[in-house]
Amino acid sequence: MASIELPDPETDGSTSVERAIATRESRRSFAQTPIDIDDIAQLLWAAQGRTHVRDGVELRAAPSAGATYPLTVFLEVAPAGDEDLEAGLYRYEPARHTLERERETAVHDDLTAAALDQAVIAEAPMTIVIAAAYDRTRRQYPAHGERYVHMEAGHAAENVHLVCEARELNTCPVGAFDDDDVTTALSLSAQLEPLYLLPVGHRPASG
Ligand SMILES: Cc1cc2nc3c(=O)[nH]c(=O)nc-3n(C[C@H](O)[C@H](O)[C@H](O)COP(=O)(O)O)c2cc1C
Repeated sequence: MASIELPDPETDGSTSVERAIATRESRRSFAQTPIDIDDIAQLLWAAQGRTHVRDGVELRAAPSAGATYPLTVFLEVAPAGDEDLEAGLYRYEPARHTLERERETAVHDDLTAAALDQAVIAEAPMTIVIAAAYDRTRRQYPAHGERYVHMEAGHAAENVHLVCEARELNTCPVGAFDDDDVTTALSLSAQLEPLYLLPVGHRPASG
């Protein structure tokens, strides 16, 4: 499957973190304007991108219990949802900051149905999907590993939310979906479980 190199992420910006926190809210409507590949790269990097090395360990943009990094981030693109990316499913590869094409056919209708037909998924040009391989963290933390994975998904999702706010993109965290149906819609591998959907699009003129 094809690999797509993403533009380098920005590590500075004109919106302060304080402002992004103050104005952030769940925004459920989207303009049908294509999302720039720079924005896509920034959002995926904010979720799970590599930042720097500490004591020989590659660190990522969101914290991880024991640096076990159980999360995998996917990007679902709706038909005509983007100019640079064809409809289908892509997997973000943090080590190379690339998108790996996973499904070459649109999965948008199936993902929408799996998310209980919520309009926020149906109308989004793309949706970031956070999935987890629990065993990576459970092996190291048998008692608390599951809880840690959920906490970590929250960290990654909030990073995405704040970058959306800084770049005047709309998003809304979506946790109401049928797990099995999302797994089937995206053909997720057996060890991955879907945790969070983050539909993203440009802000319509009305906000
Ligand atoms: C774990 C979680 C799951 C959520 N699931 C959904 C969802 O399925 N659909 C939706 O429209 N909003 C969903 N939301 C968004 C909440 O409704 C929203 O955060 C809440 O109303 C507070 O508004 P705010 O985000 O604008 O501050 C979810 C939020 C969280 C934290």
